[in-house]
Amino acid sequence: MSTKSLPLSEERIRELVSRVGTPFHIYDGDAILKNAREMYDAFSWAPSFINFFAVKALPNISIVKLLSDFGMGSDSSSYPELLISKEAGLEGDRIMFSSNDTPDDEFKKAYELGAVINLDDISFIDSLEKAIGTFPKTISFRFNPGSERTGNAIIGNPVEAKYGLRRDQIFSAYKRAKELGAEHFWLHTMVASNELNKDYIAETARMVFTLVREIYEETGIKIESVDFGGGVGIPYRPEDERIDWRELSEDIEALYRDIIEKNGLSLKRIAFECGRAITGPYGYLVAKVRHVSHKYKDYVGLDASMADLMRPALYGAYHHITVLGKDNEKRDHLYDVTGSLCENNDKFAIDRPLPEIEEGDILVIHDTGAHGHSMGFNYNGKMRHAEYLIIDGSIYRIRRDETYEDYVKTQVDMERIE
Ligand SMILES: Cc1ncc(COP(=O)(O)O)c(C=O)c1O
Repeated sequence: MSTKSLPLSEERIRELVSRVGTPFHIYDGDAILKNAREMYDAFSWAPSFINFFAVKALPNISIVKLLSDFGMGSDSSSYPELLISKEAGLEGDRIMFSSNDTPDDEFKKAYELGAVINLDDISFIDSLEKAIGTFPKTISFRFNPGSERTGNAIIGNPVEAKYGLRRDQIFSAYKRAKELGAEHFWLHTMVASNELNKDYIAETARMVFTLVREIYEETGIKIESVDFGGGVGIPYRPEDERIDWRELSEDIEALYRDIIEKNGLSLKRIAFECGRAITGPYGYLVAKVRHVSHKYKDYVGLDASMADLMRPALYGAYHHITVLGKDNEKRDHLYDVTGSLCENNDKFAIDRPLPEIEEGDILVIHDTGAHGHSMGFNYNGKMRHAEYLIIDGSIYRIRRDETYEDYVKTQVDMERIE
């Protein structure tokens, strides 16, 4: 039978549920750090290796701080994410500012924090200079390979993607940045999302290293640092296999020796900006069954909703479900597992074989540690719920439940403005 493990014993989950109520997300900080250590050990050969944790995946200051204390940086894509990074103790080149359609105040904040600014379009060279009144000494460009790569199912075909500079733009972008005073150059790309094929990620490294060489040959500009983006996938389904950091690293090291070193080049820093692969598998949404109803199909209605986890509704994504205490029972019932939103796609699972479920059962939805809570919204007056973190076996609250007061906080008494 296909199962996935839980971060706490059944007894401790029940205790926690009775103390704090449901639903909530809980993250296993100990497992997050163990995985982070495995990633860093695997890439110990790489010059000043860093993972810029993608804040959008889990924008909780306690989590970003946990990772920052470990040694990671952050990939921030907006003003609030920059502030979260700062709160978590990050600044300077430990922040990669990878935004798109960027407003001036975000460029200013990123510059003020000393972040590496990663430009998503050639026209942003001028926008950035105008916004900050100078040009940064360090600059990065995001490369979009267009038809050179196929993309993958989630991120789509690069030719269709709104991100990054075309190949014919990238060379002149570096030249222009140099003319404006830039001295240190990064090259960034992101062409995959939730990719479980290690060869595809290694192919991205090949593409980036080759472009480093081509940029040097064509412009004389030495790219100092590269960022392969995020997109390393996680095994959402019990039968999926995770990417082994060591195997991926060995492939990338071989490419580095072959394409960079053999051509007399070197890099000062190699980076990823993974979010999902860092925290995704170590987050769990714990919810209670409110009702089991039998219509044309059988429904399990939870006290959680799309506000807590959008991925199944948004992408048809699979999230494994454990019915607490029933993992050894036969999964011989077919259910749609739903939330209480007035939206028919508010479903965590469709036609999912599960053991027989009763009102009051506790369901644990797996792999919610990235792009889970953070994607939530308040439609239908649904509040987003608390987050907890396990560290050294102890449980900490790192976010409280939203309240009605939070929900209406931005509304004001009618005031005539014109
Ligand atoms: C620019 C950028 N970097 C990193 C990430 C993180 O991706 P993942 O969480 O899949 O690793 C994203 C995700 O959307 C992104 O847009």
